[in-house]
Amino acid sequence: MTTRSSEVRSELPQQDAASVLLDNYLELVDDSAVAILPHVLRLTVELGIADALADEALSAEEIATTVLADQDAISRLLRGLEALGVLERDGANRFRLTSAGARLRSGAPGGVRQSVVNTDSQLVWLHALETIRSGRSAFRGTLGADFFTHKDSDSQSDEAFLARSRERMLWLYPEFARTHDWTSSTTVLDIGGGNGAHLEHVLRQADHLRGVLFDRPGVVDGVRRAGLTGVLADRCELVGGDFFEGLPSGADTHLMSSVLHDWTDEQALRVLASSRAALAPGGTLLVVEMVVPQDGGWHPSIWSDLGMMVLTGGRERTLAEFADLFAAGGYTLTSVEPIAASPCSVLTAR
Ligand SMILES: C[S@@+](CC[C@H](N)C(=O)[O-])C[C@H]1O[C@@H](n2cnc3c(N)ncnc32)[C@H](O)[C@@H]1O
Repeated sequence: MTTRSSEVRSELPQQDAASVLLDNYLELVDDSAVAILPHVLRLTVELGIADALADEALSAEEIATTVLADQDAISRLLRGLEALGVLERDGANRFRLTSAGARLRSGAPGGVRQSVVNTDSQLVWLHALETIRSGRSAFRGTLGADFFTHKDSDSQSDEAFLARSRERMLWLYPEFARTHDWTSSTTVLDIGGGNGAHLEHVLRQADHLRGVLFDRPGVVDGVRRAGLTGVLADRCELVGGDFFEGLPSGADTHLMSSVLHDWTDEQALRVLASSRAALAPGGTLLVVEMVVPQDGGWHPSIWSDLGMMVLTGGRERTLAEFADLFAAGGYTLTSVEPIAASPCSVLTAR
């Protein structure tokens, strides 16, 4: 197997940044402030403050008028956002977004809007004690069904989830689609491909490629209803189904981005078995995931792992854990490559 030495190290948040966050957070903690951080970020998006400040600096009065807010309340919120580093103030007492705050704007590069407004996950985290005691996701206990069963039955929540996946994808994977050598692939099956944003990037890289987007039937119906355009309309087939039951055969390249991390090892093995059975002889499996460092220290995967544990019951994995999982699923891990400017890596298996 070939690895690049930095395979599990991102160029993104470092230990120092995490310590500063913790110091600042502990500084603010008292019984009224302890829950504030996620909520002030959400309010910045929900009220439209980030979009109102997209291209200009505004006074507190102008912001209050634009976002229809109480003058005193919004001034106090703006002061909090300034203290947090979301906003900065100029000499004329007008607020503008910092570079961190700019990530809360619609369509921003590295945007995090959809994650910030995801109240489902905030709600489920209130019940995380249940996860630590039982080892199981708290999603069912909080919202009445497992993560994806809930998405199947609540179209609003599903749309928000898919929008969030698309947003996340836009800053995590484009470099992979651009730099991967697609010459030996003819058909790429994107397993759990969501609304097709990743596959679209891939197909744009090579005119000879065809794509198959596979996801839950409700997701695929939604993509069909929204209408395919560009490379997706020209060179992509849509297939709805359940990847635990089976996958369309024939593709020589299988792509799974941020799919295995949603599942326990036992469930992930069932998805790999479906892939193995459907992959054309001599084909390749490309798994895009974060890889947890073996040696401790800060890496976004450690945080994401906790998220998976509480929300879906899944997990992020170390390289050794991936190698074992692939071997048990009938694959051999042949290489791991970090994706530039992303905490994710590409694991290739054959
Ligand atoms: C975390 S999202 C990843 C989406 C996309 N690959 C990305 O990287 O942004 C996991 C995807 O798996 C899909 N999924 C979950 N359970 C599935 C199942 N049983 N069969 C097919 N797709 C499923 C979800 O609908 C979702 O689109």
